[in-house]
Amino acid sequence: DFQLPLAGKTVTISAGGTREPLDPVRFLGNRSSGKQGVALAVAARNAGATVRLLAAHMEVPPPPGVEVVNVETALQLREAALAAAADSDVVIMSAAVADFRPAEISDTKIKKRDDTADPVITLVRNPDILQELVERRNQGVTGLAADGQLIVGFAAETGDQHGDVRAYAEAKLQRKGCDLLVVNHVGSDKVFGKDTNSVVILARSGSEPQEASGTKADVSAAIISRIGFELNQVSP
Ligand code: C5P
Repeated sequence: DFQLPLAGKTVTISAGGTREPLDPVRFLGNRSSGKQGVALAVAARNAGATVRLLAAHMEVPPPPGVEVVNVETALQLREAALAAAADSDVVIMSAAVADFRPAEISDTKIKKRDDTADPVITLVRNPDILQELVERRNQGVTGLAADGQLIVGFAAETGDQHGDVRAYAEAKLQRKGCDLLVVNHVGSDKVFGKDTNSVVILARSGSEPQEASGTKADVSAAIISRIGFELNQVSP
């Protein structure tokens, strides 16, 4: 009998970029379009999964057939991710989460006035959601077996002047402790808002790095098929 690779699985996917408010009309944001996360949601849905999309700011609409939770800030995404992860077989953190947020949010629009000094924005660190998901999974908080939840991170690396993207990514995979890390090599005109992507999938298990490129749909199909493979290694 034919069975879809993620039939019976619940997959939570974060997508888009968080926005961190400064005042009622302004925010700090990033260039994430949400296209890769949405393509992943489509691929997971087509593979038979029940999909929850945690949607930060996106330039594309969420696809039909998935449950959508809208969030704006990193702190809101954290709440939604911890709640959704509690009974997810797979969590994919493809959202671009702001590392910092303004320390204070003004209740009223920050005014331009000639008699005051130029304003200074103080930033505070946001929690690392991916790392927290891994810690909770490892502590068994999810109610799934310690090895029963697969957590996938994304990394956008520019490399340094030597372009050593792979070494940075390997270190990030170990630091974050997720099972798979999907590494994008980002440059000024690459990835963001584009319909194509080129990635390397690194596995904590140490199995061979896997390259995937093409449309964001092609890349998503490769990632979802790899996830199906990894899940079957754990619980056939
Ligand atoms: O450390 P870096 O931001 O490069 O890590 C990227 C990965 O970590 C992505 O999967 C992103 O969704 C996740 N992340 C997170 N919480 C943050 C920052 C990044 O979950 N505060």
